[in-house]
Amino acid sequence: MKWYRSDERIPINRAIKKRGKGRRPVRCPIRGRLNIKTMKQLQEKLEAIFQDFHRHPEISAKEFRTTKKIKEYLAEWGVRLIALPLPTGALAEIGTGNGPVAALRCDLDALPVQEETGLPYASEVPGRMHACGHDFHMTSVLGAAMLLKERESRLKGTVRLIFQPAEEINEGADPMLRTGLLGDVSEYYGIHADPEIDAGTLGIREGAVMACPDHFRIRIQGRGGHGAQPHLSLNPIPCAASAALALQQAVPGKIGPFSPCVLSVCRIQAGDAWNVIPGQALLEGTLRTMSDTDRATGISAIRQIAEYTAKAWGCTAETAFFPAPPPVVNNAELAAFAAETARSLGIGVIRQEPGMIGEDFAEYLREKPGCFIRVGTGIGPGLHHSKFRADPSALSGTAEYLAELVVRRLDKMSGSQSGKES
Ligand code: NI
Repeated sequence: MKWYRSDERIPINRAIKKRGKGRRPVRCPIRGRLNIKTMKQLQEKLEAIFQDFHRHPEISAKEFRTTKKIKEYLAEWGVRLIALPLPTGALAEIGTGNGPVAALRCDLDALPVQEETGLPYASEVPGRMHACGHDFHMTSVLGAAMLLKERESRLKGTVRLIFQPAEEINEGADPMLRTGLLGDVSEYYGIHADPEIDAGTLGIREGAVMACPDHFRIRIQGRGGHGAQPHLSLNPIPCAASAALALQQAVPGKIGPFSPCVLSVCRIQAGDAWNVIPGQALLEGTLRTMSDTDRATGISAIRQIAEYTAKAWGCTAETAFFPAPPPVVNNAELAAFAAETARSLGIGVIRQEPGMIGEDFAEYLREKPGCFIRVGTGIGPGLHHSKFRADPSALSGTAEYLAELVVRRLDKMSGSQSGKES
């Protein structure tokens, strides 16, 4: 199910067809210089913005051009910018300036990947690509900003727009929260492109939807020597191999069959020569869990297995964990509301399958309730793949949905019964 085929600009989503194809008016026409009155016009405007972001990807914490463009768009549309004491990223708001406050968050960073999509608007920066759909997220939230700006005088509170940097390295959400500029937010909403769902269909579910992406590193200390004399040294390589096998089998086993847990050893490094036993070996990998309890069990099991395996081989092990966001846990009531809003707009909703990828949107949900929504961007190569492509056909529909969702949440939070747009 799609909202627009970007090549022909023909809406083929059932709901949109029913409501009058591309000529269907947007829920609140955008006046002023933009003069956007129909979904087709909104779609064209958003596709131009999306293609520009896609052509100019910037990696984590270096999103300088992206930040500048976002601020230019928002200023052009008359959206209030809030001074953000961070090198990249932007914060803005629409509405009364008072509570209740609902936040829409998107992320800005691209990846160190060489694009191989062959798209006419492919990345112009070698070795950099929007391979995680963050260009789609930003454009959708900008589209929502355009629509919300036109409804500003009727909003029953404030929508805070968070354009967050450095999501890919988990260093964006925490600094954003520490600015103290989000203290009054009551609810958070975020989206992520999903290449496993048809373009324009949403994936929503309550509870844990994304994992805690822990990163561990184990340094195994042995004693180097001649390859011909293992009895005079302590070879850390068989020890590392035993530890890798034990970790992958035993850690999920400790957590049990009814809780999702993934452990992958992704890197082993040791030795420089074929006939020299090295002194050290390094193991690195990731532990993925869906709850704080399972995470704690997993971390303690990794430390224990590393230590005891090393001991069995006469070596020692040092285990380090790096900071990671918690699992993304959607509030049940807000997830139901988000799904109901989509259905009332005629948008297809599926019950989202949880995934073991991590997302620092979880940091916001640690503060306040909210919902992280998957947006189908067309079945294709997975996130972070050099051929990943987010189908832009769903941009205007996503923007409209996000705007409508926060308007209805503000209505609900402010106790108003007028949940429907006039
Ligand atoms: Ni992402």
